[in-house]
Amino acid sequence: MKNVTSIFLNGEFLQAREAAISPFDRGFLFGDGVYEVIPVYGGRIFRLAGHLQRLEASLASIRLANPFDRSRWAAMLDRLADSAGEGTLYLQVTRGVAPRDHRFPDVEPTVFAYMQAADPEPGMQTASAITLPDWRWTRCDIKAVSLLANVLARDEAARQGGNEAIFVRDGLVTEGAASNIFLVDGGQVITSRQDQRILAGITRELLLELLRGEGIAVSERDIRAGELATAEEVWMTSSTKGVIPVVGIDGRPVAGGEPGPLFARAAGFYAEFVARFRAGEVE
Ligand code: PDD
Repeated sequence: MKNVTSIFLNGEFLQAREAAISPFDRGFLFGDGVYEVIPVYGGRIFRLAGHLQRLEASLASIRLANPFDRSRWAAMLDRLADSAGEGTLYLQVTRGVAPRDHRFPDVEPTVFAYMQAADPEPGMQTASAITLPDWRWTRCDIKAVSLLANVLARDEAARQGGNEAIFVRDGLVTEGAASNIFLVDGGQVITSRQDQRILAGITRELLLELLRGEGIAVSERDIRAGELATAEEVWMTSSTKGVIPVVGIDGRPVAGGEPGPLFARAAGFYAEFVARFRAGEVE
């Protein structure tokens, strides 16, 4: 397990090779669980409160009691984060281990988390995307581990030489297979409205906050798929990649095929916020 520096599984801190889960775990049999992916910068867990709040919402939506309170989550994740200092935390809660039956069992949930140290190689700088029909269910606000549609979409994007798939439902852009989508039109930044069709991205929310703070006009509204073709800029956001410009969609360049001027500003605001977070100046 490349770069995995520490694991937490059901109360124990382990090395990757020591961790094992029953094949009867409902996460394995049904995809019956939820997860979070959280960056760690300079030993500090980024936007932890927002991630734990979204976890609580996901758990409540699938009627699974939260196994830990916030301070226990924070203590456990801090200990994992300390094992590398720089990288990504993954956490997952499933409904537990029981003989296969669709009905909920009366068992303890499985709690799994790990820290993955950052790769020394610089990450993705620009992305190219394809559009695909959004064939997922209608509760994409739940951060569920059942990601079959998302991984199929990413594979389709990769087969076509791209990095991301942008989902379109009923003629409207929802989100990426593992990202939220922004576009710039007439100098205004636009992103899809927050509802059950998309994940409430932590990076999306932070970027909107930073842009508004800088006096840049932002709008959360429906985006017609056709707007992708005429947009001045398209960006994608996620915890693992931050803000990335999408420079090509469906084989055509976005605007000039280069990152746009508003992207440069937005990425600057984001990088500055991360730098201040590292320095302990912001939460
Ligand atoms: N995915 N939409 C989807 C479908 C996602 O899977 C993600 C993130 C996002 C962006 O959310 P955030 O800014 O909170 O990371 C939007 C993570 C990184 C993943 O599955 O690896």
